[in-house]
Amino acid sequence: MTTMSRPVTLPAAAHSAEEAPDRRAEPLRAGILGGGFMGDVHGRAIRAARSVVAGLASSTPESTAVAASRIGAERALTPDELLADPSIEVVHVCTPNATHAEYAARALAAGKHVVCEKPIGTTLAEAERMAEAARASGLVTAVPFVNRFHPLTREARDRLAEDPGAVTTVLGSYLQDWLLEQGDDDWRVDATTGGPSRAFGDIGSHLVDLLEFTTGERIVSLRAVTGRLHATRAGRAVATEDTVAAVITLSGGGIGTLTVSQVAPGRKNALALEIAKPTASYRFEQEDPEVLWVGRRRGSELLLRDPDQLHADGRRLSIVPAGHALGYQNAFDAFVADAYAVIRGEQRPGLPTFEDGLRAARVTDAVLASAREARDVPIP
Ligand SMILES: NC(=O)c1ccc[n+]([C@@H]2O[C@H](COP(=O)([O-])OP(=O)(O)OC[C@H]3O[C@@H](n4cnc5c(N)ncnc54)[C@H](O)[C@@H]3O)[C@@H](O)[C@H]2O)c1
Repeated sequence: MTTMSRPVTLPAAAHSAEEAPDRRAEPLRAGILGGGFMGDVHGRAIRAARSVVAGLASSTPESTAVAASRIGAERALTPDELLADPSIEVVHVCTPNATHAEYAARALAAGKHVVCEKPIGTTLAEAERMAEAARASGLVTAVPFVNRFHPLTREARDRLAEDPGAVTTVLGSYLQDWLLEQGDDDWRVDATTGGPSRAFGDIGSHLVDLLEFTTGERIVSLRAVTGRLHATRAGRAVATEDTVAAVITLSGGGIGTLTVSQVAPGRKNALALEIAKPTASYRFEQEDPEVLWVGRRRGSELLLRDPDQLHADGRRLSIVPAGHALGYQNAFDAFVADAYAVIRGEQRPGLPTFEDGLRAARVTDAVLASAREARDVPIP
């Protein structure tokens, strides 16, 4: 585990471990790269972790000033200034995908811990280089696979782990509609800024991570097809996919399907994952995260989040009592709090790292290869 760059000054009277300063109470100084949707989400989570947004850098001085003020950053900086600032201990990369690898590598080289948005790289080779740089640095890296931080996905994971059987089937889908119309456009549509996979790299990666995290199994092979609703958007030819369907095989021999779309009318952020073992099935829906469906041959139930009924990790993430609904930002806050605890040298099970980002890149690469070559693709 790494040490923080900030020196620790022991008070003169602190001779025993009991009197040593409690580092858990110290705020970290964070820098955010990118002042869009996720810059805001990360900024709120950093403050919730009782830490400081010491600097923010976005694409232009004007947009940086607006975002820094909105997010409450101490200073509006350029990306170069932020990465060179010795007082910034952790860098959050919240920019378009094609910039992640360079920013993360520079932050690690400067001795800073890195929270990097998914996908960590736009290609498998880039993700491999990032994971290698993370290993070599000894610093903490984290990737916001945020669905791991809902109390009920942790609960599903604990219950699945207690069940000795292998997974039999998986039914996974992640559906959105914000790119439904031909006039809908975004940097993600363009492969040069978003990467060669759009729908799967953007949201399918969350589905894969949650599936492998909750089951403890791996996707060992898949067969995928991709679709594109609009051949052009904003007058440009589109090279990235709107939809993906994949048939998967798991390490325990189970099978399943994953359906991903950014053009599904009426679906906003509908991640749904249903996992079946011979004794029970579990279904989680991201838009209704306070409920876990537990299916049984006899006696199925809707498990409402109630700390009294949850295993330790689900209880830990239940920061308010039953009936006081938790959602996306709360899960994100929990992710950043865990990342910061690990930076401070504490243990936090289930923190997604660059190794998990690499894993998502590997599966995304297999999806594109399978669709392109119309064949089953094994995943190491
Ligand atoms: N983990 C999650 O739940 C989640 C959810 C949404 C998006 N994301 C990821 O977060 C990242 C950002 O997505 P977003 O929705 O916030 O996008 P966005 O378009 O809302 O924001 C991107 C920001 O980056 C700035 N920017 C662009 N190029 C830059 C550069 N070279 N240097 C500095 N700033 C630059 C833009 O001005 C903008 O402020 C993406 O990688 C995306 O995949 C993750």
